[in-house]
Amino acid sequence: MIPRLGVNIDHVATIRNARGGTYPDPVKAAQIAVKAGADGITAHLREDRRHITDRDIERLGSEIDVPLNLEMAATDEMLDIALKAKPHAACIVPEKREERTTEGGLDAAGQHNHLAHFVRALKENGTRVSLFIEPAQHQLEAALSLGAPVVELHTGAYADACNAGEQERAMRILDDLRKAADFGTRKGLEVHAGHGLTFESVSPIAAIPEVIELNIGHFLISEAIFCGLHETITHMRDLIVLARTGVPQ
Ligand code: PXP
Repeated sequence: MIPRLGVNIDHVATIRNARGGTYPDPVKAAQIAVKAGADGITAHLREDRRHITDRDIERLGSEIDVPLNLEMAATDEMLDIALKAKPHAACIVPEKREERTTEGGLDAAGQHNHLAHFVRALKENGTRVSLFIEPAQHQLEAALSLGAPVVELHTGAYADACNAGEQERAMRILDDLRKAADFGTRKGLEVHAGHGLTFESVSPIAAIPEVIELNIGHFLISEAIFCGLHETITHMRDLIVLARTGVPQ
């Protein structure tokens, strides 16, 4: 099975918000992504609204026809928005105001009691819940006991090691990701992966047989500056298919 590709369009909104106007439009980017083969669209409504806005989430809900995956912090404000928007999926992520991006996984084990209410409320509202966690067995066990059907494994540390040319470190983290994907799947979780992936680093992750979905954003939007969004996403899809099947497109 080929992993689904969720395209994260946050950074189209980052560029728009740099000038405070209406372009580039993240919804238009989502529509192009769908035409280029995205199976879903992912957007992170951050507490400080630095990129995606409430209006973007409303428009994504009504103007795209593939599943929307809302990334959200476990706060009452975000829960209210998610319960009203009823996205296909919600991925609960840790969020720190001062961070540039989602720096680490959610501490599902340490925050078990806090998270339980969010997982339950979203599930009861018909949204598929995932928890964005580090590839560690105790975090997977916490996700299981919280009743989350999906985990997304944080690939940021692996991607950083690849970018820095630190092959050994990258391979060690890749091994953790493989073990986590295997353990989670055997326990009945659906396993996704994402963060920081590029053309260079995606293949070993896409090749992990248990990975059902990849969520990729910043690199795709960055590369699109040079090659266009359609071509960039098509190439990423081709790499994912090749990694999983061994057959070039
Ligand atoms: N998955 C999750 C849960 C994320 O928070 C992000 C970043 O918003 C991504 C995937 C995509 O990461 P990147 O933009 O680095 O590809």
